[in-house]
Amino acid sequence: MAEFVEQIEPLKQAALSAIGEADSLRALDRLRSEYLGPKGKLTALLKQLGRLDKAQRPEAGRRINQAKQALQEAFARRKEELELKESLPKEPIDFTLPGRRRPLGRFHPLTLVTEDIVRSFRKLGFAVADGPEIEDDYHCFDALNTPADHPARDTQDTFYVETEPRLLLRTHTSSVQIRVMKRQAPPVRVIVPGRVYRRDNPDATHNPTFHQVEGLYVDRGVTVGDLKGTVEAVFRDLMGPATRIRFRPHYFSYTEPSFEIDFSNSVTRRMGREWLEIAGCGMVHPQVFENVGYDPEEWTGWAFGFGIERIAMIRYGISDIRLFYQNDLRFLNQF
Ligand code: DAH
Repeated sequence: MAEFVEQIEPLKQAALSAIGEADSLRALDRLRSEYLGPKGKLTALLKQLGRLDKAQRPEAGRRINQAKQALQEAFARRKEELELKESLPKEPIDFTLPGRRRPLGRFHPLTLVTEDIVRSFRKLGFAVADGPEIEDDYHCFDALNTPADHPARDTQDTFYVETEPRLLLRTHTSSVQIRVMKRQAPPVRVIVPGRVYRRDNPDATHNPTFHQVEGLYVDRGVTVGDLKGTVEAVFRDLMGPATRIRFRPHYFSYTEPSFEIDFSNSVTRRMGREWLEIAGCGMVHPQVFENVGYDPEEWTGWAFGFGIERIAMIRYGISDIRLFYQNDLRFLNQF
């Protein structure tokens, strides 16, 4: 047999021991082309097959292929070992160390309170309505029976937008009462959570934007008793069964009679107050029904509006309204 056939076995042995010693995937790759690549040593032997006598070729071919297969297996095995080795950390690691915490977002306290309010009213069959924050005089004031010389329309209180016709940022969610009643026929049972704007300087209890929830209930034969019962049920649901409320006569242009609602529980007492004013309400004024095309002889209703911040402050014992808007994580992380 030709001389080169004698080279197969030593070549294979040399390759196997080199593979065993290869200490990185890169070194192993280099070895692979050194032996099995197009210009590799084993490939070179394979190319010489043609020079053999026909009779010798099958035996020589078989030996070369055996060697080739042995090398391929050795390469594959070593590759697995090296991959495992290279995937392990270079430095020793303490697997008992605690993992890194991903900071988890949370809901803003005003969102939490709003959702609870909505849930309470939903139980009583109220739907949630929505309206624009950029409003016009008509929906925010005129249709609510607030005459042009009413102090609530003073530019001291209202942010106006420089448009023609003039628009404004709604000063209360009551504007949505008008939009809802213009859009649908009675009966109506909606609440409207939303943001409102007033020209106030920020202090512990004021901010130029804050949030309200409006409520509107219109049907036949609705009474102040319904109003009081509903408000009481919702506040007890929200603030605990020991919560008490009381109605004081007041004036709003869109309700008659009108009331302010005071609220009392252990938190208000801890804040040093028996009663805290929490909302305005009343029976919808017949003129408002006229304005939206409801027959005031047939339909009766009540409405209320309260401040969400106020409720959140009482609920969580927060003493400064500005904390809600500063996005200070030390504050937000507490909810
Ligand atoms: N809009 C009033 C405010 O912002 C609150 C209010 C009072 C709403 C009486 C009403 C209502 O719906 O009937 O202070």
